[in-house]
Amino acid sequence: MTVVTVGSVNQDVVARVDRIPGPGETVLGSSLSRSGGGKGANQAVAARRAGGADVAFVGAVGTDADGAILRASLERDGIDVSGLAELAGPSGTALIAVDEIAENTVVVVPGANAALARLTDAQRAVVERSRVLLTQLEVPVSLVQDAAAARPDGAWHVHNAAPSGPFVLAADDLLPGIDVLIVNEHEALEIAGVSDRVAAVSALSQRVRALVVTLGRQGSLAVVGGETVAVPAHAVHAVDTTGAGDTFCGVFAARLAMSGTRPEDVHADLLADAARWGAAASAISVTRPGAQDAVPHATEVARLREESE
Ligand code: RIB
Repeated sequence: MTVVTVGSVNQDVVARVDRIPGPGETVLGSSLSRSGGGKGANQAVAARRAGGADVAFVGAVGTDADGAILRASLERDGIDVSGLAELAGPSGTALIAVDEIAENTVVVVPGANAALARLTDAQRAVVERSRVLLTQLEVPVSLVQDAAAARPDGAWHVHNAAPSGPFVLAADDLLPGIDVLIVNEHEALEIAGVSDRVAAVSALSQRVRALVVTLGRQGSLAVVGGETVAVPAHAVHAVDTTGAGDTFCGVFAARLAMSGTRPEDVHADLLADAARWGAAASAISVTRPGAQDAVPHATEVARLREESE
């Protein structure tokens, strides 16, 4: 039951501000913190803390001090980092501003994340053990394609099309091989090239085996074939939404791995169940600051689900 996440790992440098500055504007921040981030690493942490699945992370850090810190942090979570390469140069860094209403802006300087165009032999060996391969696009498209081709028969490919810009450019190559595409509403509209949610869901669901659309406070939709199941969101007070989508994806992938179901047997209720766990974990994560720091453990998520039923 191994979830293998192939993707980015960043050192997040987070400033709290009253409001996000506009172009050319300077604002004073109230605090500065550093913590583990990157969409791929955040999703690996979420999958691991979901309990019940072994998790491996495949990506790259640099030879700077941040690289060692980021590796050690993933190891502390019990994540297999035998596929984490060390490449000459800096690690990825994300400069994040979070305001009073939990909105953020993020500037990612990819560093080592951008330098890994193909899997190394060690990384390929990790991907070949996957039951669920979980990817995003803060790394080169070619790395995601390489990983998708290397996964064993019967393993799922769950792809979170974030950021959506690079996905749009490679959509024709990527879409046919994806078992579950996870997108937020903005990403769905951009990838489908339409301005209406219903049209986007209809268009995308015909191009992948299954589709999950996250809709923030409106919950999410799990779509397989002609069937759609709506999953409600939990009402919480958000302080920082950074990494909330990553938490959803990681927990979703772990629940899929735990189900033991093969991709060809996917059905909407299976996706909706995984999405309910993802939604609960994500809801808890936004009540805390940080990306990986905010990811809850399985017991907390189960408690929230019990309280909400
Ligand atoms: O999705 C949140 C993540 O995006 C942050 O942790 C930051 O590193 C950027 O990659």
